[in-house]
Amino acid sequence: MGQVDGGGDERDIPSPGPGEVVVEVHAAGIDAGLVHLLEGRPFPVKLALPLRGDRVLGIDIAGTVHSVGESVTAWAPGDAVFGAAQGLSGHGGLAEFARARSEHLLAQPSTLDQEEAAVVPVSATAALHAVRDAAHVAAGHRVLVLGAGGGVGHFAVQIAKALGAHVTGACSPGKAAMVESLGADVVIDYTTQDPLEAGPYDAIIDTGGHRPLRHMRRALTRTGAVVLVGSEPEGAPLGGLSRSLWAALVNPFTRHRLVMLNSSIGSQALQDLAELIEAGMLRPVIHARYPLEHVSTAVQQLGRGRGTGKTVITVAQPAEEAAWARFQRR
Ligand SMILES: NC(=O)c1ccc[n+]([C@@H]2O[C@H](COP(=O)([O-])OP(=O)(O)OC[C@H]3O[C@@H](n4cnc5c(N)ncnc54)[C@H](OP(=O)(O)O)[C@@H]3O)[C@@H](O)[C@H]2O)c1
Repeated sequence: MGQVDGGGDERDIPSPGPGEVVVEVHAAGIDAGLVHLLEGRPFPVKLALPLRGDRVLGIDIAGTVHSVGESVTAWAPGDAVFGAAQGLSGHGGLAEFARARSEHLLAQPSTLDQEEAAVVPVSATAALHAVRDAAHVAAGHRVLVLGAGGGVGHFAVQIAKALGAHVTGACSPGKAAMVESLGADVVIDYTTQDPLEAGPYDAIIDTGGHRPLRHMRRALTRTGAVVLVGSEPEGAPLGGLSRSLWAALVNPFTRHRLVMLNSSIGSQALQDLAELIEAGMLRPVIHARYPLEHVSTAVQQLGRGRGTGKTVITVAQPAEEAAWARFQRR
């Protein structure tokens, strides 16, 4: 661990282990998973990932490479990268410096700024796994995205469109314009109309609302798929997990495909997302920006299953922007 004296502020700099990279973080994305960790809910989270000691959370990052560990050849100090920090093991992105596995970083796409790149990894990976790998969405499929205005949902709409599907996005009225702008063919305000009644769908990507499984199955084609990404039911000790476990039990006995998504960051998915981004087919929508010192407010505002697009935490300005800002203030 080293230290840097930033003219009054002293920052701890971790050392990279073998195969690791230390990134100077410029922006960090946050999402529902961080809220679960902080609140220890649903309760299995407490058992799987107990929060002990002095740990820095946060997975999504964009920044510049500060130093590289043994056997890292892909990156050199100064490279602009985005990807996943080791937030689950406590070396996460909600700090000036984060540790990441070398293979969990990519060069920042030329079409995104730092903040946009920072909000892609977790939510867009979940969307890609849900739409392409779990639901097997193909050209001409009719796809319903529940929670189309949320962190995962707004990526899912774009990925399903990129695969050539006819996409219906369900969201509350305040998010309708945004979902339409993402390319959804039909936008349904679920507060006045039941999107399940507008089926049948080849795939339902469920990121919000916690609708009963039997209702969603009635809205499917004969061999359609429901992918349960997540939901935030109030007062349920297992959260959305109980419904997902039920889906896994029923799945072997039906023609429908009922998938409980368990997405994790992988280098192939990040590369596929970067290709979609560079091709102009995928772009994050940032709804809220907070400086690092206001991260607790940001987490509170994220809400429980009511997010809009993505929330970004600005950690530090790149050196040249900081110098320019200082110059302008003179
Ligand atoms: N399985 C995995 O690997 C994985 C990975 C990432 C996330 N997740 C989980 O997936 C869930 C979604 O994550 P997120 O980051 O996208 O959360 P989010 O940003 O809060 O989005 C959830 C969206 O669902 C909408 N919604 C709520 N009730 C609805 C209903 N009845 N019908 C349609 N839409 C409704 C919400 O807003 P409105 O009500 O205002 O429309 C919100 O836009 C969370 O539970 C998260 O933990 C799981």
